[in-house]
Amino acid sequence: MEEQGRNGEKCVSRATMLGRMVQLLCDTGVLEPSRNSPVVRFHHPDKLEALLSLEPDAQGVHMNELLRLCHDIVDYSVQTCHPHFKNQLYGGTDPYGLAAAWLAEALNTNIHTYEVAPVFVLVECAVLRHVLNIFGFQNGDGIFAPGGSVSNMYGMVLARYRAIPDSKTKGLSGLPPLVVFTSEDGHYSVKKGAHWLGIGTDNVVPVKTDSHGRMMASDLICCIQQTIAEGKKPFFVSATAGTTVLGAFDPLEQLADICHQYGLWLHVDQHVSRLFMLLSVTGMLGWNTDAVQEILSPSQGSEQARISPSYFITTKMLQVQQKM
Ligand SMILES: Cc1ncc(COP(=O)(O)O)c(C=O)c1O
Repeated sequence: MEEQGRNGEKCVSRATMLGRMVQLLCDTGVLEPSRNSPVVRFHHPDKLEALLSLEPDAQGVHMNELLRLCHDIVDYSVQTCHPHFKNQLYGGTDPYGLAAAWLAEALNTNIHTYEVAPVFVLVECAVLRHVLNIFGFQNGDGIFAPGGSVSNMYGMVLARYRAIPDSKTKGLSGLPPLVVFTSEDGHYSVKKGAHWLGIGTDNVVPVKTDSHGRMMASDLICCIQQTIAEGKKPFFVSATAGTTVLGAFDPLEQLADICHQYGLWLHVDQHVSRLFMLLSVTGMLGWNTDAVQEILSPSQGSEQARISPSYFITTKMLQVQQKM
């Protein structure tokens, strides 16, 4: 079906255009690539730039040309649905997730107020309630975040406010340096957060790991005591449940006890979300949720996992909010 364009030219209707795009995805096998096709047709940037037409064209292009460009995008992109695509963070797409993403994009909603996003605000609350329930957090709260790094920073902000409530209004000047602990295998975003929040990367103390890549509780105690002896203020321990390289799980229960003893906030940077939830649901984790202030999940790390936003949950958020 064709419609009249703004300049009088013929153009296809929106529905037809969308139908053709779906057809292109099916024809090119994006969702189910053949085992014999390449995972990627790799070219160095200069060559790839020459192969693609990337310059914006003020005149616009005809639908057929647009589809040809889309075809090129598919041809030269990495086929994440390919059975030979192996990545430490994600793989392929889940058709239900894709359909939901299309729905959300089609509604082009913005979740900043209930007025403009009544359904999605309730969906966010329901999903967070569900996640809190899985982790056994009573009276918790949470928020979706654009990624793991930002979620780590959310944790640091709450912990800093808990340690020094005046930091919100008066800033950090005149205070002893605040100190963060994470294992030497902890993600670099912990340092990034310390940089962005004015804590300073020198004040992120790397705690030793054992032969399995897990944070050593005994070294954490040494590091905390040394920091206190130096006149600094420890406030935040970032444990990892599924380190980026080794997939190691720090000993959360032991760390929770230490944090409780020294009055520190325990944050869990959770990477292999499915595995962790499985452990939690089956009770194998057996942790004391009262001792763990919060958890984040980058929600990555499994086959068929869409690259998805993180969620950040906390057991103590409500108390902090009341004080703010
Ligand atoms: C353990 C861990 N934490 C945090 C992050 C940062 O996540 P993002 O890249 O979404 O900011 C990653 C990313 O790989 C990670 O593996």
